[in-house]
Amino acid sequence: MIILGIETSCDETSAALVRDGRNLLAEVTATQMEVHAAFGGVVPEVASRRHVTDITRVVDKVFVDAGLTLGDVDAIAVTCGPGLLGSLLVGVSAAKGYALASGKPLLGIHHIAGHVAAATIESDVRPPFLCLVVSGGHTELLVVDEAFRFTKLGGTRDDAAGEAFDKVGRLIGLAYPGGPKVDRLADEGNPHAYEFPRALLDDGAYDFSFSGLKSAVNNELTKRRNRREEIQVADVCASFRAAVIDVLMDKTARAVEETGLRQVVVAGGVAANRGLRSAMQTYQQSTGVRVVFPPLKWCTDNAAMIASAAFYKAVQGFQSDLSLNAYAQLSL
Ligand code: KG4
Ligand code: ZN
Repeated sequence: MIILGIETSCDETSAALVRDGRNLLAEVTATQMEVHAAFGGVVPEVASRRHVTDITRVVDKVFVDAGLTLGDVDAIAVTCGPGLLGSLLVGVSAAKGYALASGKPLLGIHHIAGHVAAATIESDVRPPFLCLVVSGGHTELLVVDEAFRFTKLGGTRDDAAGEAFDKVGRLIGLAYPGGPKVDRLADEGNPHAYEFPRALLDDGAYDFSFSGLKSAVNNELTKRRNRREEIQVADVCASFRAAVIDVLMDKTARAVEETGLRQVVVAGGVAANRGLRSAMQTYQQSTGVRVVFPPLKWCTDNAAMIASAAFYKAVQGFQSDLSLNAYAQLSL
């Protein structure tokens, strides 16, 4: 089964052709990162306008690259939420057009289901597994069963992990997205230099909260600036990163204990974080629990993951109709 996947939930216009959820035939992604960097974050109106100008040429190119035509695909899958509404609408409208023109089934896919499915592309990873989704918009712990159904153990109460990285990046004057830069700086700093809080939220064992941590970083920076003290930016980044990772590791380890699952998939843009990768590797070595990180190109937003997630739904007979809508908020 060959599925055309389309993803436009944020600032990447992406199309991919994937066979049976696992074999990538072609993928084309047009990123808008430089456009938004000038504004210090993604500007929704600018993003949707760029999707409109890019979507058709991205889809055309993915067919050329794969040597296929629309007639060769078995279904068309598109992210229908959550995300920026205007951006999502461009992908959903395009996908409906391709479905209508070809007569092929349409599947609306949850963005997070895509991030989870990314681990199965070109890999031997199969559910059941525990999935830690850490992206710019989400921090979630999920149990993924054999049929690729999800049970949510916990989610973020406020800022997502990637959002916290980006906000701390902004506090220290880094261009958007600050996450990868904070990560690089952290490699050179002392993680014990500053005592930042670890919000473990006793009342919601698997929920996350990072806004207090971000405020603590802000307060520390403001205090030192007011006193005209020198700020060791690398130490701030390292101490902040250590606080985020401690919470992610603590909750993941607890979920492994409670569910008895022996595979952990780390998905989403923050799976690129070097500190998190190294903490997870240490965890794997000390416990024998298998930890899987999808390749970096499939950790950030991409259409291959949407085509992959759609396959697991298509084999179960799921299908959307042409009344499919886009949703800024959408539960899993
Ligand atoms: O999954 P993604 O591409 O988009 C969303 O669905 O949100 O994730 C993007 C997020 C951004 O917040 C970015 O700063 C963060 O992932 N990110 C990182 C790193 N690489 C990307 N955060 C920390 N360390 C990194 N190395
Ligand atoms: Zn994402």
